[in-house]
Amino acid sequence: MTHGWRVPLSDVRLPAAAVEAARDVLTSGWLSSGPRVAEFEEALAAYVGARHAVACSSGTAALELAYAVLDLGPGDEILMPSLTFVAGANAARLRGAEPVFCDVVGEGDLTIDASSLARQVTPRTKAVVLMHYGGRPCLPDALKAARERGLRVIEDAAHALGGEGAPGRCGAWGDLGCFSFFANKNLPLGEGGMLTTDDPDLAERALRLRSHGMTSATWERHTGAGVLYDVEAPGHNFRFDEARAAMGRVMLRELDANNELRGGLLARYGERLDAVDGVVVPFANRPKTERSAHHLAVALLPSSADRGAVAAELREAGIQTSLHYPPTHSFSAYAGARADVAATDALASRLLTLPLFPHLEPGQVDLVCDALAAALPSEAS
Ligand SMILES: Cc1ncc(COP(=O)(O)O)c(C=O)c1O
Repeated sequence: MTHGWRVPLSDVRLPAAAVEAARDVLTSGWLSSGPRVAEFEEALAAYVGARHAVACSSGTAALELAYAVLDLGPGDEILMPSLTFVAGANAARLRGAEPVFCDVVGEGDLTIDASSLARQVTPRTKAVVLMHYGGRPCLPDALKAARERGLRVIEDAAHALGGEGAPGRCGAWGDLGCFSFFANKNLPLGEGGMLTTDDPDLAERALRLRSHGMTSATWERHTGAGVLYDVEAPGHNFRFDEARAAMGRVMLRELDANNELRGGLLARYGERLDAVDGVVVPFANRPKTERSAHHLAVALLPSSADRGAVAAELREAGIQTSLHYPPTHSFSAYAGARADVAATDALASRLLTLPLFPHLEPGQVDLVCDALAAALPSEAS
């Protein structure tokens, strides 16, 4: 379904087996967390190479759980790139911790810059969020800079299910990995998230906090384990449900093939956009040994281009675009936050996200690239 677009930004086609798996749950008499959630957690942990996985209601909930199990709160600073989705900063503020913004490497690499990370560390810094932008693993020197300074490492791997860099699979580098199954992600379930970790204590705390802090799960009580429970610390309702877990388990089997399709389409974008004067395609120089999850097709427009006008022309042609991201430090809520963001400021207004999903046709990529070239000012195209 393209919802009126000639080329939508993203589109979801569920495999018949996923629909069937959800249908089985819907007639089973139990819809909330249960054995299918546990099976999906096990499958995802094995896929990522982490010992534990805790499913939850969104990627944002996974970030909130990560901060909570690390006891991050008032007086603590959490480093993160400004060029990311606002969820990580919001979750920090809502816990009373302070997000501190770091720069990206530059227009060729939109992940967090290790030297900026190092510059932003103070005695109050407790953790860093490494966001694997567009499915590209952060550079290993960012992980090293965080570890050398004794920081806790949380990966925002919302874009990066299937990504792998020198330190391993995305989601298995840090103390905790956070994934999203939002409707436009590489494993789209509508809503949903997952926390991964090797640490059994962090996993146990996340399990409790996911469901009100209660010492027994709803499924255990449903299946007769008794009605009594304790609450040792207050928690949330961040639970996941059986239907989406059943779909997720089926769809995980197709993830690598879908990521490869995305990668092939991104290579075509790269070839076509290389020929357009002034357009930069980031991450062109990453090592071939690394595995991207190929989540986003992002281009940097020439500085002379008016991004709003280009997006409007593409919209006229039926092509949907997006922005990843308006930098977090530019939002009113974060005015005055500590930010080391010269490179981010220099490039953010040039970013444009183009359509990408596994069943996008190569011809549609060509159409997008031709429309983009035609929309650029003539001295740039
Ligand atoms: C980088 C990043 N972090 C966090 C999130 C939050 O995930 P969710 O929408 O599942 O809460 C998203 C999703 O949009 C994201 O792209």
